[in-house]
Amino acid sequence: MAFLRNCWYIAGWADELIEGQLLARTFLNEQVVLFRDSKGALQALQDRCPHRFVPLHLGRLENDRIQCAYHGLSFDCSGACVHNPHGNGAIPKAARVRAYPMHERHGFAWIWMGQPEQADPALISDFSPMDPEMAYIGKSYLLVNANYALETDNILDLSHIEFLHGNSLGSAAVAQGIIEVAQDGDTVYSKRTTHDEQLTADLERLRGIPAGQRVDRWLDVRWNAPANMLLNSGYTASGQLRSEGRSVYVAHVFTPQTEATTHYWFGIAFPKALGEEGARLAQDNIEWLRQPFTTEDLPMLEAQQAVIGSQNFWDLKPVLLASDGGAVRARRLLEKMIKAEQEAMGDQPKIA
Ligand code: FES
Ligand SMILES: [Fe+2]
Repeated sequence: MAFLRNCWYIAGWADELIEGQLLARTFLNEQVVLFRDSKGALQALQDRCPHRFVPLHLGRLENDRIQCAYHGLSFDCSGACVHNPHGNGAIPKAARVRAYPMHERHGFAWIWMGQPEQADPALISDFSPMDPEMAYIGKSYLLVNANYALETDNILDLSHIEFLHGNSLGSAAVAQGIIEVAQDGDTVYSKRTTHDEQLTADLERLRGIPAGQRVDRWLDVRWNAPANMLLNSGYTASGQLRSEGRSVYVAHVFTPQTEATTHYWFGIAFPKALGEEGARLAQDNIEWLRQPFTTEDLPMLEAQQAVIGSQNFWDLKPVLLASDGGAVRARRLLEKMIKAEQEAMGDQPKIA
């Protein structure tokens, strides 16, 4: 399946981009070099010198220009070649690389992989609970050898925590939880509420729940294209209102590296109001979450991908269960958006 182009993708945690440093990453099969300019703004260029196709990230960043390491052509933030040290110094017309719009918001670096004139920052979905100004954020990353839509399935159907994460995140009450799926424009919600649940001792400790306390739990996920999800995970004593309990936000955001590999950034937020305790909880929780995500989800997703290969998901006729509503809704919506984009582009030259 083609990728959605006109869309803000996450390129990384904003603090991964440090002034003066070049960071190479592949998104949607395109090699990109990322950096933070001297004004603090994020920049992204095609990571391929037009002369002999050397990756520009091997070069040097100076005065907001990248000088290619091989024969010294220099490129500015617009992708234009601005210096040719050879011959009479004339700059060939074709000596330019593609520049990608970028924006920093809520602790993430966002990149626009489509038509630059359509890159409106107002289209960035709201991840304000993950803003490091507002909260302590535990942050992590995994590279997954699986298609990003399998990750959407994973997060929008959290019934799997009963089976795959039975000793960490799950319990025997999850699969029978009450499910609610909703859609508002291009946003999909997949919500699950369990009742009278006994959480694992680890989860009680990490989320500050008294040992043995039976709880009602909610796992409310919001999805936006292409695969950016924000989970609100909360607990209240059994039978009590949500407002009596507490919750945390967990971001699960995915950007395709290729059709079969995916960047996975995940983070958890604890309010600044908690002070030092919040910073400690953010760190403890993210380290703990890394364990099931790495040893349980990752092998499962990679095993799925190995079986599916390049076959079309729907051609395989997946069996649908009660828990699949949110994931199917998101898949269908993404497919519709991609189709509409391709039709709108018609005979226009495809974005290269
Ligand atoms: S390959 Fe970049 S200047 Fe020659
Ligand atoms: Fe999982």
